[in-house]
Amino acid sequence: MAGAPNNVVFFDTTLRDGEQSPGCSMTEAEKLRMAHALEDLGVDIMEAGFAISSEGDFQAIQRIAREIRRPVIASLARARREDIERAAASIEGAAKARIHTFLASSDIHLEFKLKMSREKALAQVGEMVALARTYVEDIEFSAEDATRTDMDYLCAMTQIAIEAGATTINLPDTTGYSTPEDYAAMYRVVYQRVLAGTPYADTVILSTHCHDDLGLAVANTLAGIEGGARQVECTINGIGERAGNAALEEIAAALRVRADRYKVESNIVLEKLYPTSQLLGETISFRPAPNKAIVGENAFAHEAGIHQHGMLANPLTYEIMTPASVGQPANKLVLGKHSGRAALRSRLAELGFVLPAEQLDAAYAAFTTLADKKKSIYDQDLVKLANQASGVEAADDAAQAAQV
Ligand code: KIV
Ligand code: ZN
Repeated sequence: MAGAPNNVVFFDTTLRDGEQSPGCSMTEAEKLRMAHALEDLGVDIMEAGFAISSEGDFQAIQRIAREIRRPVIASLARARREDIERAAASIEGAAKARIHTFLASSDIHLEFKLKMSREKALAQVGEMVALARTYVEDIEFSAEDATRTDMDYLCAMTQIAIEAGATTINLPDTTGYSTPEDYAAMYRVVYQRVLAGTPYADTVILSTHCHDDLGLAVANTLAGIEGGARQVECTINGIGERAGNAALEEIAAALRVRADRYKVESNIVLEKLYPTSQLLGETISFRPAPNKAIVGENAFAHEAGIHQHGMLANPLTYEIMTPASVGQPANKLVLGKHSGRAALRSRLAELGFVLPAEQLDAAYAAFTTLADKKKSIYDQDLVKLANQASGVEAADDAAQAAQV
């Protein structure tokens, strides 16, 4: 969008939206350890928790607010007096504090969840944002379920929140319902109708917050940026309610690798993505799937022979970023039944075996027989094959090797 600044701020909600999902709860000490890692990763804002939800969460937010000094520390509150007072108390010790308050905007939420009229909701937003503003200057308002909200009403709620003092307006795709085109369009409309030409155009930041129910959270987030949003809410490994939130590592990598398209910068230190993901995996009860983009164990693994051949010739044939650029140890040529002779030769050389062509042919033939029987070929299998091919060791049958 014309006039939008060219840097995007990362609002990490691993410790709130992420932590509130099944298998992800963390103790105070674990939250604090993650908070240090998120600070090192370069997040601009971290949502440390939902203060009124429990005494434990309140204390964890308070501890993070006192210890983590560079990023803004956000505390979540429903648009209710008691929530806002509790959120404000939890971040009293912060160097930079934000209250993040929210109220649903869609008719389905207003009617069935809140049993509240549209008019009453507007009044409550104005009143509660103004109350939050008496505690801190940095106020975020989220119109929950924004993507299923009538656009005129969404603009009205946004306007009231801004007039009451909100400095960031978040338009969440709470149910993961939106599509990239629709999500981008929503930002353009809100900007044009509520912000353009007003004194707020340069001061209020629009924010994305996407859930992954249709697997579109990251795509929608990137579309939101194209629509003019300059804050993205996301979590490490994409943890979060139901199918999760938009994955921080995917957004950050996409913005860097496709800088030609998005033309925005961020403060994320890409090399810390994998270590931070690993730390979260060790802390909660599950790790990312092996094929998870950027941080999965197989994100830089190549098994197919054609791919391995290309990778050995020039990694750019099959990789759009290096593993090192996102903190992954190294790309892996996984030897399996889809691998070719070039990969076998390369791995054997790494293991110290430079075989003449004839012996390599013999080793490759034995390798393919073995690979048909075993799911994983280990270095010890390869050493055995190389020794057999070079006559150092008597040829065993493949079945015996397969028992290794
Ligand atoms: O998904 C959502 O709408 C939320 C809000 C509280 C921002 O998590
Ligand atoms: Zn959410």
